[in-house]
Amino acid sequence: MLDKNTIVGVIGSGAMGAGIAQVAAMAGHKVVLYDNNATALGKAKSSLTTTLQKLQEKGKVTSAEEITDRLTYAPDVNQLAPCGLVIEAIVERLDIKKTVFADVEKIVSDDCVLASNTSSLSITSIAAACTRPQRVLGLHFFNPAPLMALVEVIPAVQTANELVVAAKELMQQWGKIPVIAKDTPGFIVNRVARPFYGEAIRIYEEGIADIATIDWAMTEIGGFRMGPFTLMDYIGHDVNYVVTETVFTSFFYDPRYKPSFSQKRLLEAGWLGRKTGKGFYNYAENTPQPLPNKDNELGNKIAERIVAMLINEAAEALHLNVATAHDLETAMTKGVNYPKGLLQWCDELGADKTLSILDDLYHHYHEDRYRASVLLRKYASGNKKMVS
Ligand SMILES: NC(=O)c1ccc[n+]([C@@H]2O[C@H](COP(=O)([O-])OP(=O)(O)OC[C@H]3O[C@@H](n4cnc5c(N)ncnc54)[C@H](O)[C@@H]3O)[C@@H](O)[C@H]2O)c1
Repeated sequence: MLDKNTIVGVIGSGAMGAGIAQVAAMAGHKVVLYDNNATALGKAKSSLTTTLQKLQEKGKVTSAEEITDRLTYAPDVNQLAPCGLVIEAIVERLDIKKTVFADVEKIVSDDCVLASNTSSLSITSIAAACTRPQRVLGLHFFNPAPLMALVEVIPAVQTANELVVAAKELMQQWGKIPVIAKDTPGFIVNRVARPFYGEAIRIYEEGIADIATIDWAMTEIGGFRMGPFTLMDYIGHDVNYVVTETVFTSFFYDPRYKPSFSQKRLLEAGWLGRKTGKGFYNYAENTPQPLPNKDNELGNKIAERIVAMLINEAAEALHLNVATAHDLETAMTKGVNYPKGLLQWCDELGADKTLSILDDLYHHYHEDRYRASVLLRKYASGNKKMVS
């Protein structure tokens, strides 16, 4: 169904599309990269050519020229006709994606596989725009696609079973680590990671600690590579806030995913983070950065609270069969570089301890946001381990 001879089409030559095209070409495929914006396509061409040249200089590829020759930059959608797999990575708008899928279906052969790299939209509703929805699935790469190993493979309700197996195998051939995620908002990573941002902001909004202290607690005590505020500034509030809002509305306004005004105001102000020079932090030259209050007791409380919320999300995702325990652990360690899987973390901290942190929060706030997953309660009462 899908193999090395499959010609891969990529729609959208932005950050993700160009990266996916590079991955596919490096894996030996002929690739057709299509964009309806000639300037974007030109940019992708020059940046991919430079990147491949640099990889050759570093000895990471033997011939940049060979890989470059496999890449076609297509200004016309009809050039996707010979493709056996087309991966869409255009603007995150359901209406536009649906139109593009319906249009592409008229161009490609009947057995061509159609995939979307959407971060947050329903694969099922994209598939519904097609006359052959059984050939549609989600292939969610992480940014930057050539460096991040994780790919979430997301079958729509309509997707043929054998396609899921074939897509998983192809991702492995591309050197990726595929996990299977149910078609639910945020799939695995963008759902389970929400409290890393949301609970950190809540702690800050309540004045329990400032941003520098929360970032310090999560890196020094929690062991995360970046603190939540540094990470949100890095991702950009235009992207991070919008994912939060989409997940929140898609979950029928479940308070667990409620966005914050602090982040919304940053977005409104145009303080998008590093890329605009200002976000939660100010990146202007010679600006002194806020110093954390390195109070260990406070730091432990912050880290435990955020980690307990993350574990709860992972437990709930497992409970609702969003993914297997193995795939949940892989997704969080390979997709967002968490220091360990959250179910493993639960086993180390203890399901009973995690539950008591959540129940204390729930009794204190009387908010549904802090309700513990029934699975966590079950493991706590049975004194059972989730993975170990
Ligand atoms: N950026 C990330 O971190 C990230 C990570 C994972 C998934 N995604 C998803 O990948 C997709 C693309 O994101 P991105 O960051 O690469 O966006 P981007 O804005 O960098 O690139 C999008 C490209 O699509 C092109 N485009 C838009 N409409 C088109 C159309 N109708 N036909 C052809 N080309 C069209 C644009 O010209 C642009 O070059 C989105 O669905 C996003 O949610 C993004």
